[in-house]
This record gives sequence, C-alpha cells and structure tokens, in this order.
Amino acid sequence: MSILIIEDVFGPAFAALTDVVYEPTAFNDQELLEKLLPNATALVVRNRTQVTSSLLNKAPNLKIVARAGVGLDNIDIDACNQANVAVVAGLGANAISVGELTLGLALTVARNISMHHQGMTSGKWDRLAGTEISGKTWGLIGCGATAKATAKLLQGFDLDILGFDPFVKADDPKLKALNIQVTDLNSVLTRSDFVSIHVPASKETTHLINEQALDSMKSSSIIINVGRGEVIDEAALAKALATKKIAGAGLDVREQEPSDSSLFKDLTNVVLTPHVAGITKESQSRINQILVDEIVRKFANQPLQYAVGKIKQ
Ligand SMILES: NC(=O)c1ccc[n+]([C@@H]2O[C@H](COP(=O)([O-])OP(=O)(O)OC[C@H]3O[C@@H](n4cnc5c(N)ncnc54)[C@H](O)[C@@H]3O)[C@@H](O)[C@H]2O)c1
Repeated sequence: MSILIIEDVFGPAFAALTDVVYEPTAFNDQELLEKLLPNATALVVRNRTQVTSSLLNKAPNLKIVARAGVGLDNIDIDACNQANVAVVAGLGANAISVGELTLGLALTVARNISMHHQGMTSGKWDRLAGTEISGKTWGLIGCGATAKATAKLLQGFDLDILGFDPFVKADDPKLKALNIQVTDLNSVLTRSDFVSIHVPASKETTHLINEQALDSMKSSSIIINVGRGEVIDEAALAKALATKKIAGAGLDVREQEPSDSSLFKDLTNVVLTPHVAGITKESQSRINQILVDEIVRKFANQPLQYAVGKIKQ
C-alpha cells in the first residue's frame, strides 16, 4: 500500500499509517505528479485535483481515490469505475460544520454584524435594527445531510421549516422528526424569510436561483448559499441585493472559485466566506479518520462503508 496525498489533507489519522507520501501542492505540479502517480495505490485529494481518465492512466497501480470532503464535482466517477478504482468520500462528516456556518451567515446578515463591525472599527456608533430568525419561515433547497444538520440547529428558533427536494419522500421519518415540510420550489421561495441552499451543482441546479426566482422571494428575505456557487446566478443576485428586491445574502460558495468580491464590494447586505462551511477542526478530523479507515478496509479486502462509485470493496 502506498498512499499518495496531493492536497492539503493531513492529521493524526494519516500519521498513524506507514507508507504515506504527503505532497500537498502536487495537485498543481504536473512534473511531480507524473513522478509520484505510478507508485500510488491510494490517492487522497480535496477539491482541487481533477481525477479524470488522464490522471488514472498515469496511476496504473491505483485501487482507491479518497476525497476529503463530500462534493464530487472534481472526480470522474465513471472513469474510476472503468479503471476499477474505488472512490470514497467523507459523506455527511462535515454536515454539522455546514449547519453551524449556515446559521452564522444568517445571523451575521440578519443582525448586520459585519456592517456593525466595520462601522465600529472606523469610529462609528450606528445602531441599526436587525431581524429575528425566531418565529419566521426557513426554506431549505435540498434536504440531504447539510440541510438536515441545519434543520436540527434551527429547532431552537421555533420556526416553520420548508424543504424542496424532488428526490426525498415527504413522509420520510427523518425529515418529519426535524419538522421539515417538503413542498415545491415556488412555495419555498415565496413563503420563506430565510432560504438556504444545500444542493450540488448539476444541470438541473445551475442557476436554479435566477432573476425570476429572486423576484418571487419576499423583499425581506435573506438567502444563504452553502451548497455550490453555480446554483445562484450571481449577477442577478447582485442586482436583486442592490435594488433591495431581497434583503440580504450570505455566500460561502461562488460561481468561480477562488473568487474576488468585486460583484458585491459596494453592497452592505451581503457577507462572503471562502468556501469554509465544511471546514472545522472537528470535521477535518472526522473526515480523515473515515478516509484512513476506508483505505485500510480496501487493502484488507473488506466492504467499504463510504463508497460512492461502483466498486464497494
Ligand atoms: N460549503 C461547503 O463547505 C460545503 C460543505 C459540504 C457540502 N457542500 C456542498 O453542499 C451540497 C450538499 O451537501 P450535502 O452533504 O447536504 O449532500 P447530500 O447529498 O446529503 O444532499 C444533497 C441533496 O440535494 C438534493 N438534490 C439534488 N438535486 C436536486 C435538485 N435538482 N433540486 C433539489 N434538490 C436536489 C438531493 O436529493 C440530496 O437530498 C453538495 O454539493 C456539497 O458539495 C458544501
């Protein structure tokens, strides 16, 4: 077993293994990659490495790709299936972290925390009224792991929770236990005071939140995106924020990443973070342990518990 880590993923879980090659910038260095890939039997990546057939061709001994995170946009699962390479990911392991940042962004926008901080550090004392979350309606777009983690935290706010997700059942006991009422997209957009996005990027979700969708939302509403940047048409959002069609936004993910903030730089009702919703010390340590356990299982020929491709053992 030769474990090759080519992005910034490390910690005690990996340190406990032998035969680990840690080259955190190799994803960006073709020459180094071509030297290291032929020996690798396990490859650990975050979201910067494009795992395509071209990369797989350079790694003839590879048996498993371990993704430190949950998004699979950078991994060609079909190509891995064809190459008989298992793919595992830390599914659900960062959901709590995402839920907490979702609330953090919502509170920051609703209570003007960022604006107040900037005012205070430039000598102002402007006491603007904020908005409460309690007693309002919260809409979830996507009802998977991060949406459920958000709903769990929202229980203390005593509000109504709506959810849109064509792939879940309205009577799913897990959603019912979290008081998530599954409904259609239009109802979520028109009825919610807070809307948070928890869907992956796909043909169906790209620009799901466009000018028309933003028009249908309440002018007092706040939108939070912790899913994928492609889901919101950012130009339409910037316009909706500038013209106060909606009240505010918190964006952890962007259409282009890394991204500059020029589109939103003159707006005071938006808060930006650099795709960190899932990144906490705790989530990284949970994810690393999942990946290490899966790699060990793979080479012990045991069933994988976090496989996302066709290869399950
Ligand atoms: N910002 C971050 O740091 C961060 C961290 C974790 C996850 N994410 C991203 O958030 C997204 C959701 O993560 P998750 O862990 O909740 O995933 P998940 O797979 O548990 O849930 C995603 C949900 O989206 C639903 N969905 C898919 N297509 C849809 C559509 N067209 N309309 C409505 N719902 C649809 C699925 O049915 C599923 O229930 C992923 O893209 C993931 O990469 C971002």
